[in-house]
Amino acid sequence: MYRFRVKTPREQPGTDPAELDTQAAAAEIERLSAEINRHDHLYYSTAEPEIADSAYDALFRRLQALEAAHPSLLAPDSPTQRVGADPRDTLPSVEHAVPMLSLDSALEEAAVRRFDDRLRKALGDVDIRYVLEPKLDGASLELVYVNGVLDRAVTRGNGLVGEGVTENARTIPTVPLRLLEDERAAPRFLSVRGEAIMYLSDFESLNQRRIEAGEPPYQNPRNATSGALRQLDSRITARRPLTVLAYDVLQVDGAEFGTDSEGLAALTAWGFRTPERIRVVESVDAITEYHRAFDADRESLNYEIDGVVVKLDALGPRIRLGSTSHHPRWAIAFKFEPRKEVTRIDRIFVSVGRTGVLTPVALLRPVEVGGVTVSRASLHNREELERKDVREGDLVRVQRAGDVIPQVVARVAEEGRERGEPFAMPANCPSCGTEPVQKGPFTVCPNHFACRAQLKGRITHFGSRSALDIEGLGEETASLLVDEGLVKELADLFDLTEEDLVVLEGFAELSARNLVAAIQGERTEVAPDDPVGSAPADGGARPRALRSVELARFLTGLGIPEVGVTVARDLSLHFRGFEAFRASSQETLQEVHGVGPKMSVAIRAFLDDPRVSTALDHLVAKGFRFVVPEAVPVREGDGWAGKTIVLTGSLEHFSRSALKRVLQGLGARVTGSVSTRTNILVAGENPGSKLVKARELGVEVLDEKQLVARLVEHGTDPGAGPPGPGVGDAGAERPGQDSR
Ligand code: IVH
Repeated sequence: MYRFRVKTPREQPGTDPAELDTQAAAAEIERLSAEINRHDHLYYSTAEPEIADSAYDALFRRLQALEAAHPSLLAPDSPTQRVGADPRDTLPSVEHAVPMLSLDSALEEAAVRRFDDRLRKALGDVDIRYVLEPKLDGASLELVYVNGVLDRAVTRGNGLVGEGVTENARTIPTVPLRLLEDERAAPRFLSVRGEAIMYLSDFESLNQRRIEAGEPPYQNPRNATSGALRQLDSRITARRPLTVLAYDVLQVDGAEFGTDSEGLAALTAWGFRTPERIRVVESVDAITEYHRAFDADRESLNYEIDGVVVKLDALGPRIRLGSTSHHPRWAIAFKFEPRKEVTRIDRIFVSVGRTGVLTPVALLRPVEVGGVTVSRASLHNREELERKDVREGDLVRVQRAGDVIPQVVARVAEEGRERGEPFAMPANCPSCGTEPVQKGPFTVCPNHFACRAQLKGRITHFGSRSALDIEGLGEETASLLVDEGLVKELADLFDLTEEDLVVLEGFAELSARNLVAAIQGERTEVAPDDPVGSAPADGGARPRALRSVELARFLTGLGIPEVGVTVARDLSLHFRGFEAFRASSQETLQEVHGVGPKMSVAIRAFLDDPRVSTALDHLVAKGFRFVVPEAVPVREGDGWAGKTIVLTGSLEHFSRSALKRVLQGLGARVTGSVSTRTNILVAGENPGSKLVKARELGVEVLDEKQLVARLVEHGTDPGAGPPGPGVGDAGAERPGQDSR
């Protein structure tokens, strides 16, 4: 379907663009842009073009000529701007208007029946209708339109924050740069979720071109798609045959829908292409039939799907059902059986992960499974290995389900073949030689801070985005630093110099300087008697230059078993200092929100390991200033702790993310959508549909002034650099311009 429109020079009809005055040129540009947008839509989204390519090209060239003669009239949403912009250095991180959740999945009909039962029970057996769609195997994308014009495009990322790929998205013909308004007016604000995909025929011709140009072909359409989408140079994206299919209105302000079907119809009217074969059904039998039919056609479709998506059509009940932190309760992905192939295990080896878990991995004779060559597969752990009883040399069935690494499903019995010995987990860690310990089905190397394999993973984790966010400290660099003997424990990172790095492969003067600077971060002089920060190495006689770091990020970065971003934040808010955390007991740990007995045991065991303890001493001696949000006395009943708050509209004095951190610092949960669980809606200017929902549900609504008054009343001055260091970077955002 995709085609590259080749524009050959030809004579332009109409008045010479240079002779038109600005007003006349502007009028013609507007008319032409609208006409071209309409033809683009007819061609790319409905496959029903009205004019020949040559007539289209004439319109396009006329528009180009007018814009060339009147550069001040060149608009970012002009159809001529799909060719790509100048390359950038990095892709910016952009917060989603609404969290992009993933889907719960069902592998069998029984699970879909349970889903249906749950909904009927929760909703009191009203007329339930489901929208069915193919589950596209591509890269999901948020497209935001402000007053009908494409404002930004953001990859899914971690669901809350993704990468800004606006210039790239502009080059995709099925992404409207401006919403069509033939049938219905554009809303003030629209956030749409869709999937970027590559049709198989487009994928094959792309690979053909790559092979001819001596470049390596892509493994599968999904990789090619997400690679194209995340290019730094949008001119490259423009040459990749991408298509976006829109399937969900994430948020809208200035239009009302009662059902998903209405939303999909509006998306079509606004010029989006939507998935084909969308159906609305009322029973699980009909869902199963749809699933079966799509599965049967799977091989003959021109795009990859891995299941069908089942969504409750009515939007009101969706709000009542709400979401978990991962997936909405009103939708489910009914997956297809993963593709399986048979191959032989050449060898089994053991890999050591960041947390020290020893994982047996099968090295396989390479085999293609659903378009991907698989040459290794996890055997998970000792128990799995024993249960499946697979050995070196065995013939096995392997599968690949979605993103997860390939798995060995089962051994294929071969009559008359002599089998090898059962595989035994090693008596020593293959990386450091330490004797592993058994934890349930897992075999774990306890040498957490000195084992090289763990160290590499740990360094990468320490520098990762959710931890210290050290740019340039990726897997490859971490591995190099360990192999070269420069880093033997985390503390050594802080002794690295430019001279150390510049001699390493892949480093130049600038990259060496940047990495050292990123590790050192900002250091501030602190008086010897200042109690903040970690213990000085020299007993505190001299002023110390300390590296500021949010305690929560530091705790995340240590990779403590069971402690992820959320628990780290709760620990930091509770203990407020690193030494206080280290000195905690199981009892005090369990006072922390979200920490149960099992977690407290794991945390204590980690801290009590003498090797861990020594490594932490060394690390802390490098001098840190741990930053924690201000303490706020929370009064019973009227405090913020435990409250679920939603922010909407633009705020005058805060960026939304800064305010979110203030509220989180006070123990509140800040979520993206209004439900019966919402306690307070904070509504700024132009609040939109969330305010309507909140009123419907009787949720308390505060405007910005009332919010500030209440914060002050409870002992927080939100204007004075609210609790938490994160607010400092709020300047990078545009207060008042945050999306709704
Ligand atoms: S609806 C809140 N519909 O599948 C979820 N998702 O784990 C609303 N996906 O990456 C999503 N095709 O982007 C929906 N027709 C479709 C889809 C679809 C593919 C993706 C989605 C996400 C994954 C779900």
